[in-house]
Amino acid sequence: MSDKAIETLLAEDRRYPAPEDFAAQANAKSDIYDIPFEEFWEREGRERVTWFEPFTSLLEWELPYAKWYLGGKINVSYNCLDRHVEAGLGERVAYLWEGEPEGERSSLTYAELLAQVVRMANVLKELGVGKGTRVAIYLGMVTELPIAMLACTRLGAPNTVVFGGFSADSLADRSNDMGCEVLITQDEAWRRGSTVPLKLTADEAMAAAPGIRACLVVERTGNEVPMQAGRDHWLHNFEVPDDPATCPPEPMDAEDLLFLMYTSGTTAKPKGIAHTTGGYLVGAATTHRYVFDLKPETDVYWCAADIGWITGHSYIVYGPLCNGATSVMYEGTPDFPDKDRWWEIVERYGVTILYTAPTAIRAHMKWGPEFAEQHDLSSLRLLGSVGEPINPEAWVWYREHIGGDRLPVVDTWWQTETGMILITPLPGVTTLKPGSATRPFPGVDAAVVDDQGEEVGPGGGGYLVLRRPWPAMTRGIFGDDERYRTTYWERFPGMYFAGDGARIDEDGDFWLLGRVDDVMNVSGHRISTIEVESALVDHTSVAEAAVCGRADQLTGQAIVAFVTLKGGQEGSVEMLEELRDHVAMKIGPIAKPANIVFTPELPKTRSGKIMRRLLRDVAEDRPLGDTTTLADPAVVAEIADRAVAQPAED
Ligand code: WTA
Repeated sequence: MSDKAIETLLAEDRRYPAPEDFAAQANAKSDIYDIPFEEFWEREGRERVTWFEPFTSLLEWELPYAKWYLGGKINVSYNCLDRHVEAGLGERVAYLWEGEPEGERSSLTYAELLAQVVRMANVLKELGVGKGTRVAIYLGMVTELPIAMLACTRLGAPNTVVFGGFSADSLADRSNDMGCEVLITQDEAWRRGSTVPLKLTADEAMAAAPGIRACLVVERTGNEVPMQAGRDHWLHNFEVPDDPATCPPEPMDAEDLLFLMYTSGTTAKPKGIAHTTGGYLVGAATTHRYVFDLKPETDVYWCAADIGWITGHSYIVYGPLCNGATSVMYEGTPDFPDKDRWWEIVERYGVTILYTAPTAIRAHMKWGPEFAEQHDLSSLRLLGSVGEPINPEAWVWYREHIGGDRLPVVDTWWQTETGMILITPLPGVTTLKPGSATRPFPGVDAAVVDDQGEEVGPGGGGYLVLRRPWPAMTRGIFGDDERYRTTYWERFPGMYFAGDGARIDEDGDFWLLGRVDDVMNVSGHRISTIEVESALVDHTSVAEAAVCGRADQLTGQAIVAFVTLKGGQEGSVEMLEELRDHVAMKIGPIAKPANIVFTPELPKTRSGKIMRRLLRDVAEDRPLGDTTTLADPAVVAEIADRAVAQPAED
């Protein structure tokens, strides 16, 4: 067994210093790293948000729980809306909304958004929602989604947004776990030209979630859906008696619960990751301002995630609105009606900042650059990535084909639990390296440690930990203190363990290696899946690759690769040999996949992460585990068929 916690084999030498003109105008200059931790978060706590009552103490840290901005009173919807309108910015556009059906577009100014939030808040009040009432939100990417979230924050009602692709069971489980009394949903959603029956699914969920006593329904497609008298209410024709047209924002304690975001863990029961009010908002707004270099007067910012995930919470809703940004919000999929839909959107609205996920970038790579080439993308000035390690080839493709070979790409590492970006370049400061998230955000203390919890030196690999609290960190797993402690705090005493592997290079930059449960052990060498995947994607014919280990009598584990070729090419024995040699050349013979399975698609969760657990089941020829969170369950059956047809190598 080697003495390194995780071996690192892949060398990436390309460097991209911050362009001079970008650096000259950037919100963050290099001296931002010199500000002491407490001073930094004190300053941001005062500058990014407006408090009804100022905080009296910055931080209370009783491991594993932190409290931030103690004594402060604040309201999120006031910060995201009223204060901008009061400052004379009511006419600024908050959202440029693009529906999936072609030609459906609308925009909402800050004043209009405020009016709609006030209206929905007053409707919710009529339904008995007040401070502390818990609300479930089950909506697609319609403007009523941020409106519903903000209406809840206005009343001080904690909410949980359940992604519109989730099943009735998932919605019921989450509502029951949180104790939700009211559900907000829509008749149907649009997806790839067909309708998704959200209200019908919500009905099924409500049958299993007796705590929900009222359901507010947004009209989207206008098709008929069942409405249960007394329980279900349309939003559009709801009459608020003596409609006051105002709704005072509830002053909340900095540490009051803002929302829960459920995320899956190793067991079937999802974890309700809790975020509170003051620290979360400061963290989201601060990172949004510096990482994306936001200029609210001129930028058109587009985070192409779904609001049903943490990325959409922090970087479509709370961060951007708190900063007074103009954002694009798109309802549908990137390939509807054609694969140039995103680039058409960038051109139409003059998008300047684009934030998306490696899985989307790889999909565009697979389709080919010709779709982007049909459009004028010259308005773009910054690109971002989040959600998975980004393979250097995908990073470089993104920069070249979307960024005209001139734009900075910020690879941002964070999690549902962290609430805000923690490891990231600053685009006017950092020399970029494809595949590296570079360094901790100012005021964040991250490190890579070995099995014993000792910090590894330059060039070393190991486990990513956080050694100091940060404002937007989770305040725990809702109702499960024990699980919170064991999941994140037991592995390395006194440190938050993120569950990710990472390495540190000679310059102190961080390279994320994926979840540690994805690490393979081949002949005593611990090899990260991402490095082998990146070596495969580096081959000109490969669009996407996922790698996992299977048991092997000789080597402990052998590497199995699942590969999608570009432009719908089919695999061949020659290609198989070529790819194995390519990995051997890029990394070394130790990392050569023993088997390669060619497949048109990889199994992914609905948020786009590759489900290696299922690939491991296929590789080990085991019955498949839980497939309920798969975006397309048919994919894995097809892969299993192909894996059987594939003769074992070596
Ligand atoms: C992975 C999404 C490498 C990581 C915001 C993390 C990344 C998990 C990156 C959290 C990145 C996210 N590079 N890996 N830039 N960003 N991850 O909770 O494994 O959906 O632990 O939050 O995604 O996923 P989550």
